[in-house]
Amino acid sequence: MTLAVLILAAGRGERLGHRLPKAFVTLGGQTLLERSLCALEAVDEVAVIQPVIGAHDFATYAGLGLAASEKRRDPVAGGAERQDSVAAGLAALPSTVEWVAVHDAARCLVTALDVGRVIEAAYREGAALLAAPARDTIKRVVDGHVVHTPNRSECWAAQTPQVFRRELLTEALEKARTEAFIGTDDAQLVERMGVPVAVVEGSARNIKITLPEDLLAAEGWIAEGDIA
Ligand code: C5P
Repeated sequence: MTLAVLILAAGRGERLGHRLPKAFVTLGGQTLLERSLCALEAVDEVAVIQPVIGAHDFATYAGLGLAASEKRRDPVAGGAERQDSVAAGLAALPSTVEWVAVHDAARCLVTALDVGRVIEAAYREGAALLAAPARDTIKRVVDGHVVHTPNRSECWAAQTPQVFRRELLTEALEKARTEAFIGTDDAQLVERMGVPVAVVEGSARNIKITLPEDLLAAEGWIAEGDIA
């Protein structure tokens, strides 16, 4: 079984308030992208790593001077929506790849252990994602008013990697494209096909670096040695 990871790094990440696209922002001396690449590279089941970067970021990527790697391919350009970036990465993969893990470069604190666990679950069940149980009570809000409070014990915050059979993800993306549906993660597209997606509990520290305070928290965890 050949598994490839798409590392999505084509977003601008404007909420971080940086001049650089988010994946090229530095955390404890390394960019978020390098940290994500390193974490995924360390996982035995991962055979191929396909970075997806912004069309204007190829020089910045080359400037990282990444050490040669047998698993990592040259980056491809992503698209306007996250889904377009996933489709671009998928299209670039060798035909031998049967399983695909999609990972946000911004979730650079993911551990090899959690990646291995979600891959195992996907191999058993066909599709799986990492997620953390909701800590807060979640409200559905429309026009500034609560319209629904789901049972907290059933609410989880989706993380990445999310792992699928290649054909399943390809089909789900195609269905979303023809129906002009834009999701906020890949599992959502697969769920729309009526296919069950297994949930594997991931670390609460597998956060998506989004706001300046996320970088500060991550710096603290790294300095404490609390992140692998
Ligand atoms: O924008 P958001 O934080 O949800 O992005 C999650 C991940 O998807 C980030 O790592 C970002 O670089 C990537 N992304 C992408 N192409 C886009 C939008 C987001 O690769 N068009």
